[in-house]
Amino acid sequence: MEPVSFCVVGVGGYGRMHIRIIEALEEEGLAKLSAAVVRNPKKYSDEVSRLRRKNVRIYRSYMDMLENEAGTIEIVTLPVAIHQHKDMTITALKAGFNVLVEKPPAVTIQDLDAMIEAERASSGFCAVGFQSQSKNTIKELKRMICDGRLGEIKEVIVKGRWKRLDSYYQRNAWAGKFMYNGKYVLDGTVSNPLSHYLFNGLYLASMEWGRAAEPLRVRAELYRAHRIEGEDTSCLEIETEDGAKIFFYATLCAPSNEDPIHQIIGSKASAELIKGLDVKVEYSSGGVEVLRDDGSDDRVELFRNAARYLRGLDEELNCTLQMTRPFVLALNGAYESSGAIWRIPEKHLTYREEEGSVSTLINNIVEIIDKASKERKLYSDIGVEWAHPTEYFSLKGYRGFSMKL
Ligand SMILES: NC(=O)c1ccc[n+]([C@@H]2O[C@H](COP(=O)([O-])OP(=O)(O)OC[C@H]3O[C@@H](n4cnc5c(N)ncnc54)[C@H](OP(=O)(O)O)[C@@H]3O)[C@@H](O)[C@H]2O)c1
Repeated sequence: MEPVSFCVVGVGGYGRMHIRIIEALEEEGLAKLSAAVVRNPKKYSDEVSRLRRKNVRIYRSYMDMLENEAGTIEIVTLPVAIHQHKDMTITALKAGFNVLVEKPPAVTIQDLDAMIEAERASSGFCAVGFQSQSKNTIKELKRMICDGRLGEIKEVIVKGRWKRLDSYYQRNAWAGKFMYNGKYVLDGTVSNPLSHYLFNGLYLASMEWGRAAEPLRVRAELYRAHRIEGEDTSCLEIETEDGAKIFFYATLCAPSNEDPIHQIIGSKASAELIKGLDVKVEYSSGGVEVLRDDGSDDRVELFRNAARYLRGLDEELNCTLQMTRPFVLALNGAYESSGAIWRIPEKHLTYREEEGSVSTLINNIVEIIDKASKERKLYSDIGVEWAHPTEYFSLKGYRGFSMKL
């Protein structure tokens, strides 16, 4: 296959990973890193020199790149801040480029719909950086679900417990923000670091290939323990059109980082999916099937899929904008249901100096999440002292998010 020409916008933050991935595919002859946009080359002088030595064309402005590279660059990748995704994606699609935008593609349903519309009106495509959908185990499990091998999907339970230090929130201007520069960011467990696992929950709750389950209504509680504007701890109960319920429990205030766990409960079988491990499917009639992790890096596979799709070698994109619509609806529904981001009082928190920064731990959060998930309840339902009860929010006909804190 003729290598696909990529341009990465931004060489800091997760942009470094985009460059590493494209360079890995260069080794296989599938891709070529042809250009990069670096708005402040002095800040990244070593990387800019390295790229220049490789004949990568460096632009200081996104618009200059789009003007000069039309017909040359085939896929523009956007590992940029969340609030930049919509405008930069639409501009590139209108200029005739294909796009790979990072997750979450957008944090409001109106922005996502505008992106879907721009993609429809364009000649190109927009792939989304939710990489789990490119992982062999998840694809095989989804295929089994669609073939009815697990029966009707009743519940998907997702637990994500990570620890993030204050330095995580200091890495850029938008981390931990609800809004930045007048635009929604909604940075938190639901939209950003643990969003992959909520999206997986919706994806595995649908028995239709290429689709995530459509949320009908959401009940959610959002909290903050770090001194931030956004949320760092959440729980959601989502009822879907397909009849399945998704329970999502997440925190960035755990004592350590655990690999997120998904349990998929069907009428004939249940499955446990833990990042990096083989998937075990247990049939109620007895018997176990194991889906082996092939060791591939799903982040590389996401890019491989976009490149192969462009060349007509893959029939479909593993993650499209349209596929993520249920995720963005659930995200907006979670904020609408919670109505606020509740501050967890100091007496329930423990701070520790670590790695030159500070960690924030919610006391007993591991046990709280285990109990709530076991009982399929939200934190307030199980009587957690700092928790606030909330109401269901219906997503029927929901078209726009406009909440203020
Ligand atoms: N798929 C995953 O597993 C994964 C993991 C991590 C992050 N992400 C996603 O990746 C995205 C970026 O996250 P991050 O934490 O890396 O953000 P970040 O720290 O804000 O980094 C963004 C980078 O983009 C650059 N940039 C922004 N606008 C630009 C422009 N117009 N021209 C050139 N460069 C521009 C910034 O340059 P400056 O340094 O000059 O500001 C910075 O280097 C987010 O959507 C995030 O959710 C995905």
